[in-house]
Amino acid sequence: MPSSCWLALTPAGRPFQVCGQANLPIARQAVAPNCAILTVASKSELREIFMSAGSLRNKALTALLISDPAQKVAAVAELSEMLVIDCHVEIQAPEGIPGRPPQPLLVPPQQVKPRSMGSPQGRAALIHSLAHIEFNAINLALDILWRFAGLPEDFYRDWARVAREEAYHFGLLEGHLRALGYQYGDLPAHDGLWEMAERTRDDLLARLALVPRTLEARGLDASPIVRDKLAGAGDLAAAAIIDIILRDEIGHVAVGNHWYRYECERQDADPITRFAELATDYRAPRLRGPFNLTARREAGFTDEELEALQQNAR
Ligand SMILES: [Fe+2]
Ligand SMILES: [Fe+2]
Repeated sequence: MPSSCWLALTPAGRPFQVCGQANLPIARQAVAPNCAILTVASKSELREIFMSAGSLRNKALTALLISDPAQKVAAVAELSEMLVIDCHVEIQAPEGIPGRPPQPLLVPPQQVKPRSMGSPQGRAALIHSLAHIEFNAINLALDILWRFAGLPEDFYRDWARVAREEAYHFGLLEGHLRALGYQYGDLPAHDGLWEMAERTRDDLLARLALVPRTLEARGLDASPIVRDKLAGAGDLAAAAIIDIILRDEIGHVAVGNHWYRYECERQDADPITRFAELATDYRAPRLRGPFNLTARREAGFTDEELEALQQNAR
């Protein structure tokens, strides 16, 4: 770190990028043209400016604690990749994780009944359950971001992007739900996704194996079926939303696969045998076909893993 440098600020005054000792016109070219440029005298002054804006992991935790969906979505939008990433800071878990609104009422999965697509109410119930999955998915991405220290910066950047995309999915579904005359919270929902986050809160490898690589990957299998149901019922707008979600979710599972393999290598574990052990130890749901093998391959599952998945489902 040079003894003095340029610091670029966004139009809203947030620290954006350190430009080093380059002269001012070059520094200005290196960042967005509407950034303000500030001269910073010392490393400690620079750190103070960044910390006052909040680090990525702290801001993720703040967003996780927010109960109101609209405020949570707004806080997730603030998780810029340009924020300082304090990879090695161990953050203590505060009370109140995860922040979620008082509604929907959370009930056991067997009490959430599938409804016919033939009625607008049935379609709204399906969209509501998908919105609930996406709301949970926002919290899951935020949780892995703040909870696990000591990973490379790209780990945190990847999950910040996932959180932003989950917030986008939630917004799309919530908007569609409103168009159908309902809002998020109107119907009961179950808590299966967050329960797995709870179970794996002390074990990154288990979290990666069982949340993105199992529960989110199950979404890849379900998407074409759900999409066809909605299109068949004439709700083409909802079907188009599912197309966007499937496209992005392939990326999320790919992120899960990437960091699962990274962590397996770090722990000198075989990815396939360790996965089977974790699924048993943490009582993962047994997945049933049909599997979306094309999407799963695109998300980075190997042929050997897909064979093991299909064997297990028989
Ligand atoms: Fe999503
Ligand atoms: Fe996702």
